[in-house]
Amino acid sequence: MEELTEDYEELLLKYNAALKTLETQIAILIQDYEFKNHYNPVEHVKSRIKSYDSIVNKLKSRDYDVTVENIENHIHDVVGLRIVCSFLSDVYAIVKLLEDSDQITVHTKKDYISNPKDSGYSSYHLLVYVPVYLIDGVEMVEAEIQIRTVAMDFWASLDHKIRYKFKGEIPNEIQENMYKCALDINDLDQKMVDMNNKMRTIIEDQEII
Ligand code: GTP
Ligand code: MG
Repeated sequence: MEELTEDYEELLLKYNAALKTLETQIAILIQDYEFKNHYNPVEHVKSRIKSYDSIVNKLKSRDYDVTVENIENHIHDVVGLRIVCSFLSDVYAIVKLLEDSDQITVHTKKDYISNPKDSGYSSYHLLVYVPVYLIDGVEMVEAEIQIRTVAMDFWASLDHKIRYKFKGEIPNEIQENMYKCALDINDLDQKMVDMNNKMRTIIEDQEII
């Protein structure tokens, strides 16, 4: 532990730099997208550095010793950023925007929208590398980006509270109800996209006439 402190501080410095870089790059990409499309697909962006306690708990739950090397190799979400979009179609637009960006390197994609987790959780996850420019040169730092709709975010925040309260022992009834809610949310998201598309078609038709 003693030894970890200084190395950990150095690691944290890198992670903080990665978060700042990522926040800035993503804000610029969204601004550019808005300028070109006259439309902002993002409701809000949230970011965080995983707390030391959460990092330690995650390492221990996976039987890893608490070392800087293990943090770097096995914890992929120390740097985390969440992009909450209005519509389902916006989620995919943002995924493409990030994939096409030269500054961010996407190395893993997890589409929990097409393939929701057993809990019903749905979101699109990207694991990326962000270049961080330090005195000794550039380092690629890993980060997790979660992209989801407002409705998915609503579900996930309640689900998170439930998980926290019951510490893994969630009553069946609650689990089943949450799963049903996830299906409803999926349905709602689809209806909202359809409605938005319909509205746009009507407006475009009016503009032509
Ligand atoms: P973690 O150990 O949770 O990081 O799992 P993983 O390494 O397999 O990554 P995964 O992509 O499955 O999930 C990473 C993150 O997604 C979690 O830290 C949560 O923020 C979120 N997540 C995944 N499953 C659920 C879920 O069932 N409910 C909620 N609320 N969030 C979830
Ligand atoms: Mg995680």
